Amino acid sequence: DNNQLKDIISHAKEYGFVFPSSEIYDGLAAVYDYGQYGVELKNNLKNLWWKSMTQLHGNIVGIDAAIFMHPLTWKASGHVDGFSDPMIDNKDSQKRYRADQLLEAKAEQYEAAGQPEKAQALLAEMGRLLGAEDLEAVKQLIISEGIVCQISGTANWTDVRQFNLMFSTQVGSVAEDANTIYLRPETAQGIFVNFLNVQKTGRMKIPFGIAQIGKAFRNEIVARQFIFRMREFEQMEMQFFVRPGTQMQWYEHWRETRRTWHEALGVPASKLKFHIHEKLAHYADAAVDIEFQFPFGFKEIEGIHSRTDFDLRNHQELSKKKMQYFDNDLDENGKPYGNYIPYVVETSVGADRLFLATLCNAYTNETTGEGAEQKTRTFLKFHPAIAPVKAAILPITKKDGLPEKALAIFDDLRLDFNIIYEEKDSIGKRYTRQDLIGTPFCVAIDYQTLEDDTVTIRYRDTTEQERLPISALREKLAYETSF
Ligand code: GAP
Repeated sequence: DNNQLKDIISHAKEYGFVFPSSEIYDGLAAVYDYGQYGVELKNNLKNLWWKSMTQLHGNIVGIDAAIFMHPLTWKASGHVDGFSDPMIDNKDSQKRYRADQLLEAKAEQYEAAGQPEKAQALLAEMGRLLGAEDLEAVKQLIISEGIVCQISGTANWTDVRQFNLMFSTQVGSVAEDANTIYLRPETAQGIFVNFLNVQKTGRMKIPFGIAQIGKAFRNEIVARQFIFRMREFEQMEMQFFVRPGTQMQWYEHWRETRRTWHEALGVPASKLKFHIHEKLAHYADAAVDIEFQFPFGFKEIEGIHSRTDFDLRNHQELSKKKMQYFDNDLDENGKPYGNYIPYVVETSVGADRLFLATLCNAYTNETTGEGAEQKTRTFLKFHPAIAPVKAAILPITKKDGLPEKALAIFDDLRLDFNIIYEEKDSIGKRYTRQDLIGTPFCVAIDYQTLEDDTVTIRYRDTTEQERLPISALREKLAYETSF
């Protein structure tokens, strides 16, 4: 529900995970900054993805392409002509909407009112009209459905226009069309244009993949739901190049592999679901979203698309450079497969959406005790492998040599783990602070430590404590924080 999302947004801000961009100027819509714990969490997610994709696969390598690309790239990819949302303005409130989202919201109302056939019919009609680019009919549908502006309650609409989502800017000093370049709306094209560079220099044999993490930009018309839909965001994409005809088998492989990956990160299977696309994007022959159950419903976090040879073929056509691969494996007749443009299966996950899903999944309010004894404890139940801080090293008092003992432990472990040392406030308050940022382990140094070199380790999720020798700490943390 929306209250839960509100709680998560304020928690993220209060504890240094996510801040609105340029907040002192009242922020910038759909742009956010990551704070001291946010950046650690996001880096951990990215590193884990990177490692799972590249290090654990002999046949996937990474690249880091530039954000700016030759403008023809976006002609070839279809983004110049086709990457747009239908937009409509309410004349009275001067509020802008996405026409498809207005109609989807209406369909949800029908659904909620127990009229699923009406909802289905409306969505089908919308799909048909948008597919046929009949924008006048889309407007008429909005009017005939009696959709009004949420703010002013009026139904005074402009025409529906297509609004391209790419940001553009000029290179050089002269503002001419010829100098217009775009901020990339997806990282994938940096991979496609480098396909042969990597294949040749890395002597890659099909099937193989290229992975990339990087910023992407989209001028989203309606930016809502915190970091779910941003104008500047980060994607983690992998294009897997395969022999034509084998794409469905790889598509199945990757959708299962990616779902399992999310589950391994601690997302229960019940909070994940596949949404198969019936209406396919211009480049795809099959597509599925992995959806996560956010407080505002099941929504996409990752897309797995079978993109055929659409991109490479178009790049070949516009660049006049061959985008072919020579396959010397033998077919069933004993002949080499020979030259072909590979087919591509892509996995594409938003780092920020994954971050939000991780945060929502971790956010826990636990009530214990009864009556006057009742207490609620808030903590972030991150998988230890992605928790921003792995352990806090805490002397129970600031005197009698305990800080020195604790600092020696801290210094010994800080090179291997992101840990923190804290001596201010009562130990209980310090435990609470660590719970709120999701630190899985607190190590307390007490008087017994001075006698026998043991410490207590407190577990975030159960608050239980256990005594351990200092010499066992490194191995314990390494084991517990591995993926
Ligand atoms: N190369 C394919 C591609 O870009 P997409 O479904 O448009 O496909 C892939 O985007 C992923 O990128 C989405 O599943 C989502 O996680 C993330 N994403 C897309 N638009 C976003 C936005 N405005 N804000 C945050 N994440 C976004």
